[in-house]
Amino acid sequence: MALRVCVTGAAGQIAYSLLYSIAKGDVFGADQQLELLLLDIPPMMAVVEGVKMELSDCSLPLLKDVVATADYKEAFLNADVAILVGAMPRRQGMERKDLLKANAKIFEGQGKAINDYAKKTIKVLVVGNPANTNCLITKTCAPSIPAANFSCLTRLDQNRAQYQVANRVGVPCDKVRNVIIWGNHSATQFPDVSQAVVVTNERTPVYAAVKDDAWLKGDFISTIQTRGAAVIAARKLSSAMSAAKAIGDHMRDWWFGTQPDEWVSMGVFSDGSYGIPEGLIYSYPVKISGKEWSIVQGMEISDFAREKMDATAKELMEEKEAALSFLGQ
Ligand code: NAD
Ligand code: LMR
Repeated sequence: MALRVCVTGAAGQIAYSLLYSIAKGDVFGADQQLELLLLDIPPMMAVVEGVKMELSDCSLPLLKDVVATADYKEAFLNADVAILVGAMPRRQGMERKDLLKANAKIFEGQGKAINDYAKKTIKVLVVGNPANTNCLITKTCAPSIPAANFSCLTRLDQNRAQYQVANRVGVPCDKVRNVIIWGNHSATQFPDVSQAVVVTNERTPVYAAVKDDAWLKGDFISTIQTRGAAVIAARKLSSAMSAAKAIGDHMRDWWFGTQPDEWVSMGVFSDGSYGIPEGLIYSYPVKISGKEWSIVQGMEISDFAREKMDATAKELMEEKEAALSFLGQ
């Protein structure tokens, strides 16, 4: 049976990099037939029709159908997966949370539509910024769907961190494993390599492989925290190719699971693990099996980490309060 995958913001720049990769089987498997449900706003429908034409012209055997629509019901009806990209991106000088008011309405409406029309097993990935809090809004507005079915994207931060370490050590990126992104996809996030390893013939802790604690506790962290802004300053547009790659990584791992001894970072509904307030969408290290994620437990948290994990939780609490005040307006 074809999998019904809704991608919102289908006329935008991330979708343009993402759709080919999904449609050719990179994310849900080389044997999985797909129906793509492309949602954007009415003024962008001509552009979405153009994207649909190009998908047809790619001549992809897995692609059974493509629907271009501005109608929430049509976009989410019986959807198995929703990748919520459609939202306003930030411009130079803005923080992601500055988008909250503008974007909250979108996620409120789409949460309600997911609640009413999608399969109850739907997996939802929120990408539009501020991603964690937009995910919380979506989840709040879709009470008939289990909380575990909602996540937000922090895989781009994980990929950025893996690259920075791999580049320092001089190994390919896939040799760096178990980097953690804690908290918010924002400048307060905490990219943590205290549990990470470089895997060659042996597993070497990243601190031992890098041999530069000052960098790992200083510039490395701030580079990841501000990488999105650096891309905007350079491109005058926010990241798209790397965001699309990270979306594919996130969804593929959710679908097919993580490797033994390995974990990935996802923004998920907090159950209070590691002393983080319950009910936030907080990025944790997770293992995935049978399409279900579970937070990796039992890690020792240093005072250095504790302070950073709490600071990013505090920001998420503030965003949550603001977001809830926008609902129903
Ligand atoms: P873009 O401006 O190129 O495209 C956004 C698209 O969303 C536009 O086509 C717009 O018409 C559409 N849209 C607006 N309202 C909509 C609605 N109600 N329903 C459906 N579509 C709607 O932006 P982009 O570069 O593709 O970025 C999209 C979002 O992703 C931004 O909020 C950006 O900040 C965010 N982002 C997040 C991450 C992450 O790691 N979490 C990474 C990169 C970008
Ligand atoms: C990113 O991390 O590149 C995106 O969230 C876009 C942004 O606003 O930084």
